[in-house]
Amino acid sequence: MYKKPLTYALATGLVLSPMSLPVDAAKPAPNEQADHAFDNKVIKKISADNMYNTIALLSKQPRAAGTEGEYKAVQYIKSEFERYGYETELQPFTIQEWDGGSAAVSFNGDAFTGDVHTFNGSINGSATGSLVYVGLASADEVGDEVAGKIALIERGSFSFYEKIQNVYDKGAIGVIMFNGEGQSGNAFGYAYEGQDIPTVAITREAGLSLVEQLTNGSVQASVNVENAGPIDKTSYNVIAKKEPHPNKDNGQIITVGAHHDSVPNGPGANDDASGVAATLELARIMAKTPTDTELRFVTFGAEEKGLVGSYHYADTLTDEEVENMVAHFQMDMVGSRDAGELIMFTPDGNKNLVTDLGASAGARISGAVDYGELGRSDHVPFFLKGIPAALFIHAPLEPWYHSPEDTLDKISKEKLQNVAEIVGSAVYQVARPDTPALENARVAPNPADYDFDDRPL
Ligand code: BES
Ligand code: ZN
Repeated sequence: MYKKPLTYALATGLVLSPMSLPVDAAKPAPNEQADHAFDNKVIKKISADNMYNTIALLSKQPRAAGTEGEYKAVQYIKSEFERYGYETELQPFTIQEWDGGSAAVSFNGDAFTGDVHTFNGSINGSATGSLVYVGLASADEVGDEVAGKIALIERGSFSFYEKIQNVYDKGAIGVIMFNGEGQSGNAFGYAYEGQDIPTVAITREAGLSLVEQLTNGSVQASVNVENAGPIDKTSYNVIAKKEPHPNKDNGQIITVGAHHDSVPNGPGANDDASGVAATLELARIMAKTPTDTELRFVTFGAEEKGLVGSYHYADTLTDEEVENMVAHFQMDMVGSRDAGELIMFTPDGNKNLVTDLGASAGARISGAVDYGELGRSDHVPFFLKGIPAALFIHAPLEPWYHSPEDTLDKISKEKLQNVAEIVGSAVYQVARPDTPALENARVAPNPADYDFDDRPL
């Protein structure tokens, strides 16, 4: 079956020998006109309103992996794929979450009534002793005086790990941390294996008031953590498959994907309800369009937990499937009004078939699309399996990234439309039945000029 070519050729209906490549760039070559006509078959059907409405629905609540919000999104995506006529599979997988159990703190014998929570990874246990403020808890700041005491630490400047380790090494028996300046909420943080003291967080306000109290005299503190520990939850990938036309099947598979989970504290309208909306829209359009290539539309769960869903999906592929997969298109954050221009990222910063196809479609539709180097999304597990893959995203990012402000009102229908057109045309250039399988397409009639760009995120 198809082996990834060293020089990626674009598949079009007209395979030209190098001798017959057009010399006059100003005049569109016949195959270019043909490509435009084919692009229109996809482009004309794309509805930005459809995508916008999908985002409106998905962004009504956060969709953190393993939560009710994710499950609702998953059911909705599945029902949409099915409505378009796809055979659709929910692929469950386990994710590990931290259950903070219950944390309690008291000062001078009085129960503290403010917000307290355990660090991710804290041991269960209790400790009572005098409270000692150690600032940021750098190795220089922490002396032997913390031995047998509870360390009060300000967050910031360096890792949670180092702070806890520095006081642990000097014999502290418990940790209470509070946020640094400008950090809001509780100092949610991580404790690590071997840091065997109960570790909790309180608000900055509460922390500063304790620092103040300590300047006036000593404070006896106790920290108690119970029932904290890892728990298993279930997240899902949603997979819709479109078989190629039975007489035309060339054995190739193209995947198009996005992640449907969000961060816990945000509605994730752009990250990544936008990509899900574009994936659904392309699925809707391709459902009735004959192809010679199998198409798979996949929305991944638990991307925000470390690409867990896409790693799981890639791990469940057979060797034959991996071999036949010629391209993965990942759309993540494709609709922000406030972000920069479209860019295609690959984990190694090299061009591949997907960036070639995207650049070529971009040039035909709206102008050059650059490429750059970045992982951080679900194209990574495909790339690691040797499948040409790229992330379509706008950069620089919008200021609302991963915040509660990542809402519908910041979504641009024009941006959604443009990305769906480019990815849809790129996919269709390979999948349409008149183009040869990639192994037979030796030259690129319209190689687009596109550049490496290390623009900031
Ligand atoms: N949509 C982002 C990916 C992203 C972020 C791309 C910033 C480009 C710039 C994605 O949902 C995300 O936030 N990913 C995580 C990585 C993951 C391994 C947890 C991230 O970048 O922190
Ligand atoms: Zn994302």
